[in-house]
Amino acid sequence: MRIPFIAANWKMFKTVQESVVFVKQLRSLVKDASNVQVVVAPPFTALHAAAEAARNSQVGIAAQDVYWEREGAFTGEISPGMLKEAGADYGIVGHSERRRLFHDTDETVNRKALALVAAELTPIVCIGETLEERERGETLAVLDEQIKQGLDGLTGEQVASIVVAYEPVWAIGTGRNATPEQAGEAHAHIRARLRQWFGGDAAERCRIIYGGSVKPDNIGAFMALPDVDGALVGGASLDVRTFADIVAKSR
Ligand code: 13P
Repeated sequence: MRIPFIAANWKMFKTVQESVVFVKQLRSLVKDASNVQVVVAPPFTALHAAAEAARNSQVGIAAQDVYWEREGAFTGEISPGMLKEAGADYGIVGHSERRRLFHDTDETVNRKALALVAAELTPIVCIGETLEERERGETLAVLDEQIKQGLDGLTGEQVASIVVAYEPVWAIGTGRNATPEQAGEAHAHIRARLRQWFGGDAAERCRIIYGGSVKPDNIGAFMALPDVDGALVGGASLDVRTFADIVAKSR
């Protein structure tokens, strides 16, 4: 059984103060929501304070990105060890905004994922096609490439414990979520590829979550799909009651 995984990706929103207030409210709102993993990904500046506010609760903390080196002359970058010490449990890598705006590639996503695993942090590896790729009928081929390269070098055992986020780029921040049919097809395909490349155990245990305009009124339809194990929520995660509602409706 895969435990549902619901994560809030705040992107470049929320100060330290706002993050702490949110996490304190969230931990009390979700305290009775057993059997679901709840994670928030604040900006780097609020990571430590959010982790302190989440201490001894079921709320986990994710970073939104990472650099793969341990330390060095890499101005502006943050290492896995620094994230871990600040209180992070997870790291998002390969978000489409990072790929599009900051030139992340499947190769750098792979280096970041491997570095997180080496530091005993759990990667949340984002993949997904653009609208043009979908219209050209290339969706599944694009996902194949992103999985193959992004997860290269991970063992089956490691893949079993990571999270893969399917986020069709055209559904992010647009209010236009994938239909359950589109998400179902993509998730089933991703799981089949994980089975083929990393083995049955990895495929059965790896959480594959959906992202792209998830809201309280559509989370149920996604969670009803056999290969959807949770959600990565952007806009609707910024309001604590809305996010807690999504958590409540995910089980
Ligand atoms: P929205 O929920 O705002 O569409 O964003 C999804 C996302 O990018 C989560 O990482």
